[in-house]
Amino acid sequence: MPNWTNEQKQAIYENGNNILVAAAAGSGKTAVLVERIINKIINEKIDIDKILIVTFTNAAASEMRERILNAIYEKLEKNPDDENLQRQITLLNMANICTIDSFCLDIVRNNFYELENISPNFRIADTTEIDLLKEEVLEDIFEAKYENEEPDFEKLIHTYTSYRDDTPLKDLVKKIYNYISSNPFPLEWLHEKVEMFNLR
Ligand SMILES: Nc1ncnc2c1ncn2[C@@H]1O[C@H](COP(=O)(O)OP(=O)(O)OP(=O)(O)O)[C@@H](O)[C@H]1O
Ligand SMILES: [Mg+2]
Repeated sequence: MPNWTNEQKQAIYENGNNILVAAAAGSGKTAVLVERIINKIINEKIDIDKILIVTFTNAAASEMRERILNAIYEKLEKNPDDENLQRQITLLNMANICTIDSFCLDIVRNNFYELENISPNFRIADTTEIDLLKEEVLEDIFEAKYENEEPDFEKLIHTYTSYRDDTPLKDLVKKIYNYISSNPFPLEWLHEKVEMFNLR
């Protein structure tokens, strides 16, 4: 158990607020997070399977699980008869320590009937598959727009493409799509921005 710095103590014991811990590589962020969890188990009597711990990678999730287990063992060495701690080792197997992706997948899988337009046997596509799907959709939309001879679309084509090549416009659509995808309400956001150009 390290001698925690004051900043680390603050990150371990702060309560009732959202906290963000940003510190240099190897400076003890994970250690603080593990201690924070151990503190919740021991002092606040919260079971480990009632805490949601999400990471970005599978490796980080395994590291968290392992370090929490080691921390529980360390505490048990000092208090071998602590039943609460013993129980946490069993509960750890059921604890939600996973990537944010697999957590979201679980939520959708367990609640698909609440979500419209989601089939119960949905699955996660890999990135190549998604790129192909995007390409297909884009082709279809352009095709339909060409067929309908929509004047707005024709204007757009004339502005953004060279003769007989609409790739630049397709690339632009893809770029905008990727950009707005980081927004929680992409289409609302896009319409709002488009309105800003509307200087009538
Ligand atoms: N205050 C401290 N005093 C001494 N050692 C500490 C202190 N805080 C953390 N450590 C130790 O430093 C090492 C690195 O900690 P940790 O893995 O938590 O860092 P990290 O910030 O998560 O690293 P990374 O950026 O690689 O994820 C661990 O062995 C940890 O026990
Ligand atoms: Mg870390």
